[in-house]
Amino acid sequence: MCGILGYSGERQAAEILLDGLAKLEYRGYDSAGIAVVNGDKITVEKNKGRIQTLRERIKKNQTPLTGTFGIGHTRWATHGEPSDTNAHPLWSDDLLVVAVHNGIVENYKELKQELTSYGYSFYSQTDTEAAVKLIDYYYRQENDPLRAITKAIKKIEGSYCFVLLFKNNPGEVWGVRKDNPLIAGQGKGESFLASDVSAILQDTRQVYYLDNMEIVKLNKGDVRFYDSEGHAVYKKISLVTWDSQAAEKGGFEHFMMKEIHEQARAVKDTLRSVLNTDAEKFDLNDLGLNDENLKSVSRIYIVACGSAYHAGVVAQYVIEDLAKIPVRVELASEFRYRKMPLEKNSLAIIISQSGETADTLAAMRLAKNNGIKTLAIVNVVGSTIAREADNVFYTMAGPEIAVATTKAYSGQLIACYILALEFARARNEIDRNYYSELVRDIQRLPEKIDEILDEKERIKEIAGSFIDSEGAFYLGRNIDYAVAMEGSLKMKEISYVHSEAIAAGEMKHGPISLIERGMLIVGILTQKSLYAKTASNMIEAKSRGGFIFNVMTRGCEFLKDEADFIFYIPDTDEHFAASLAVIPLQLLGYYVAVARKLDVDKPRNLAKSVTVE
Ligand code: F6R
Repeated sequence: MCGILGYSGERQAAEILLDGLAKLEYRGYDSAGIAVVNGDKITVEKNKGRIQTLRERIKKNQTPLTGTFGIGHTRWATHGEPSDTNAHPLWSDDLLVVAVHNGIVENYKELKQELTSYGYSFYSQTDTEAAVKLIDYYYRQENDPLRAITKAIKKIEGSYCFVLLFKNNPGEVWGVRKDNPLIAGQGKGESFLASDVSAILQDTRQVYYLDNMEIVKLNKGDVRFYDSEGHAVYKKISLVTWDSQAAEKGGFEHFMMKEIHEQARAVKDTLRSVLNTDAEKFDLNDLGLNDENLKSVSRIYIVACGSAYHAGVVAQYVIEDLAKIPVRVELASEFRYRKMPLEKNSLAIIISQSGETADTLAAMRLAKNNGIKTLAIVNVVGSTIAREADNVFYTMAGPEIAVATTKAYSGQLIACYILALEFARARNEIDRNYYSELVRDIQRLPEKIDEILDEKERIKEIAGSFIDSEGAFYLGRNIDYAVAMEGSLKMKEISYVHSEAIAAGEMKHGPISLIERGMLIVGILTQKSLYAKTASNMIEAKSRGGFIFNVMTRGCEFLKDEADFIFYIPDTDEHFAASLAVIPLQLLGYYVAVARKLDVDKPRNLAKSVTVE
């Protein structure tokens, strides 16, 4: 949540900051601001609303905003409503310290109280201001940014990433992080700080990943690192392979539609990353998973949030069925506070697109502290979860910008199928021929995804009928229920249509009383042995006035007469059906949102990377 940036170099900072912030806007978008340094003068421009509003306001200024150092912020409000005052950057008196912050200062009330006793007063409702003034307090004593930061972080509790300017140290841009992402980019004669690489890809691919409690100082091309005690730290530079075009819309109206279309590629690349040269077997040795490791696991915990959790639910069905290992899928926000006994010899699979989700990270640390091995399925290279996990399986989706995930979810499914297959093979739970058949089948998913996308206009046409929809149910059983969860989330998060996923057999136990004439009931039928069961539940919904929308595998003969709309997906092994069934559901959520003229890529109240609890 919140995107933050820093720049130090020879070019005009304002434009660089505004362009970079536009790329980070998916992280939060209720207010925005920048601070630019010119000589010993720091100028702050900020407002409630989007980057575009800020850009237009700055353009209208009589005096241009000049200066070659600066910081920027796009906010997802936690403490204090979105307003011009609460927007970042925030400052101390005389603009001695000016800062942007991502995260939460948990002990801000105590800090404010202490600082008030030293004569400080506060103008905003943010938790951030307390931290800025604490740093100011030490800076006034020490006249040294490094000492001020190291002293302040000893007292600040919570999670944070600060990027700071100090009036008496012009030219320098400082940063520090704890449990929130921050990377430093190295350019020629210039350097950058950012919440994520997409903001600086157009300028450099050479980056440093900061570890927790590390401090960084930029001074044009000079980038230095320190530990929390202020000792110099040597860090290795990494080369980002993501293409800067990947963070552009590339002719699509929205990032979400572009990313929906990138799913076949994301699936292919994720497969290729672990497929042997003959494309007939997977090899997970590079992930630290040899056959001995795969055999020794007695139980699996899958921990994640949101869509990543939904991918975990699919994984549970697939792993249990193919590899016969008991699996528990847990919401990270629940898992981290449960006092459940964790079984020795178990494996915790942590799923996260961003690799920064606060609850998921905390759950992973809990597993590690209990001596459980962790394997992270992550999309963002170098993210905190990726760096702290024992082993990492990267999904190759590339930068995902739309707040609602699509291609990263597809990549997560593939990683889970591969793990299921390899567990099954290593433990002799799968017949050799069936294994080979599945390895061939999984490689056909990309072309089948594209086949579905060729029919997207059919979904677009029908979506128009749900503009005024007040509610929807998504029904399915087993893997189809897991897909229903994801489809339903896509509908509610971008279209604001209240929607619920229900395990089809549960309808009669309460939810069926909510069905009203014309209500959208989406049924997912991809599991042959369950066709008849789910079909009966759909007919029950139809007889109570529901509009029956089915996503079914080609060849399914059920519901032909009763359905109001049927979308057939290509046949595949049933274990992989989620990868196909989810596509029409993503499209449905997307087209209903577009028909309702909503901001598809940046739905209200949400942010892409949830780095607070
Ligand atoms: C929904 C969505 C979220 C994320 C969730 C976890 O479309 O994107 O539900 O799946 O916030 O985020 P990551 O995967 O970054 O841990």
